[in-house]
Amino acid sequence: MKKASMILDKDYQISRIDKRIYGSFIEHLGRAVYGGIYEPGHPEADEKGFRKDVMAAVKKLGVPIVRYPGGNFVSGFNWEDSIGPVEQRPKRLDLAWFTTETNEVGLHEFAEWTKKAGSDLMYAINLGTRGPEQARDIVEYANHKGGSKFSDMRIANGKKEPFDIKLWCLGNEMDGPWQMGQKTGYEYGRTANEAAKIMKWVDPTIELVACGSSNTEMPTFGSYELEMLDQCYENIDYVSLHRYYGNPTGDTPGFLARSMDMDDFIHTVASICDAIKGKKHSKKQINLSFDEWNVWYHSNEQDQDIWKQDKWNRALPLLEDIYNFEDALLVGSMLMTLIRNADRVKIACLAQLVNVIAPIMTRNGGGCWAQTTYYPFMHASRYGRGTVLQALVNSPVYDCADYEKVPYIDTAAVLNDDGGVTVFCVNRDMQEDYNLSIDMRSFGNLKIEEHILLHHDNVKAVNSETEPDNVAPRPGPGGEISDGKADIHIPALSWNVIRFSR
Ligand code: AHR
Repeated sequence: MKKASMILDKDYQISRIDKRIYGSFIEHLGRAVYGGIYEPGHPEADEKGFRKDVMAAVKKLGVPIVRYPGGNFVSGFNWEDSIGPVEQRPKRLDLAWFTTETNEVGLHEFAEWTKKAGSDLMYAINLGTRGPEQARDIVEYANHKGGSKFSDMRIANGKKEPFDIKLWCLGNEMDGPWQMGQKTGYEYGRTANEAAKIMKWVDPTIELVACGSSNTEMPTFGSYELEMLDQCYENIDYVSLHRYYGNPTGDTPGFLARSMDMDDFIHTVASICDAIKGKKHSKKQINLSFDEWNVWYHSNEQDQDIWKQDKWNRALPLLEDIYNFEDALLVGSMLMTLIRNADRVKIACLAQLVNVIAPIMTRNGGGCWAQTTYYPFMHASRYGRGTVLQALVNSPVYDCADYEKVPYIDTAAVLNDDGGVTVFCVNRDMQEDYNLSIDMRSFGNLKIEEHILLHHDNVKAVNSETEPDNVAPRPGPGGEISDGKADIHIPALSWNVIRFSR
């Protein structure tokens, strides 16, 4: 067995973890809404048409915020289409995903769903085909108590109390040529600033996320952030980051190292925010909202075929990636990257939640099951609450195509509010088990409460409706602890949660 070590100290803390880093995302895209969370006539549908089996899976996952209604979709969306009597709502062509949006589920229905799920709504406004005026109107509709045109419209639509939506996205991926209403950094920064000002004049308690680059490979990455922040720094609160990874060549060690790119991305954007802070002599710190992250590549070809055969239909089965075991390991490492950067990343959304590049899958008229990626997310959301610790880790390393010195043992440690400690760990080594020795003497007497393990001998193993537990967590081999020194057995190629309690 190979060896790695870790030193934890109760006083060596990075930051409180904002629970919103365990957020997710539902876009009006594919079968996320129609056939995902909402399927009237399904045996599991409640009186409003929402699937109870999906709701149970969402609740078990533990998602404190849900970003909605897009994504690319939002850049052509008129929020007024989604309110009022359902039968009077218009059907619209959705030019983001070449489908027809029926607006059967809108703001009121989705807000009620998120509340039942125990989540808060993170609402995205359209700064693509629309602008500050409509942004102002929707804040008035959602958050003003009454006595004005839009707040009275909400009340007439059956919702007396305001929705009180606290977190708003100022558009989506506005740098991308695929976006309706693409803008340069300067153009977007100006629009976002004017929208932000008047949205906050309507409700000063709201927080706003401005769009950064769509990903690090955009030619304007970096300059886009600089230009747009120069225009809107004082009126926004967070900058968004988006990143998806794939493994089209089947290079597992290289794929598992991609979380290092995510870490670099976070540090780069935080530095850009601080550079503008310096330039403006500002006292304000802009934090980060990593509001789209995941593995995404399995469904790319399939989607092209769907569009060839079937443009403009409602709820096309788009972006239905079937996740395998190695995807779950990278998702685990991405979650640990977010946790370790909790001093700057205050919001993050696994994109997405149901059917569309999602941890939860459904069949129309059929079952609901958890993909492989469901489990690391559920564990992190459940046990990764509290304060992230500055761990000193010593692990053997490897080189791969894009990165040097990739640690085989990737970890994050959290001091939970009950005084327990949770260590998350991915072993990226395809062959070797490790003994992870953890020095945690400053915590006093801790015992090993539980070791949860996710492993499969086949990196390409998946779950399905008929084999939902093919890749599922089970008890790990654990280890020993005495005098504050733990020795934990970490199997080759695995996701681990080691929970220490008092
Ligand atoms: O999550 C799927 C899509 O990915 C979103 O609509 C868009 O913002 C991103 O490009």
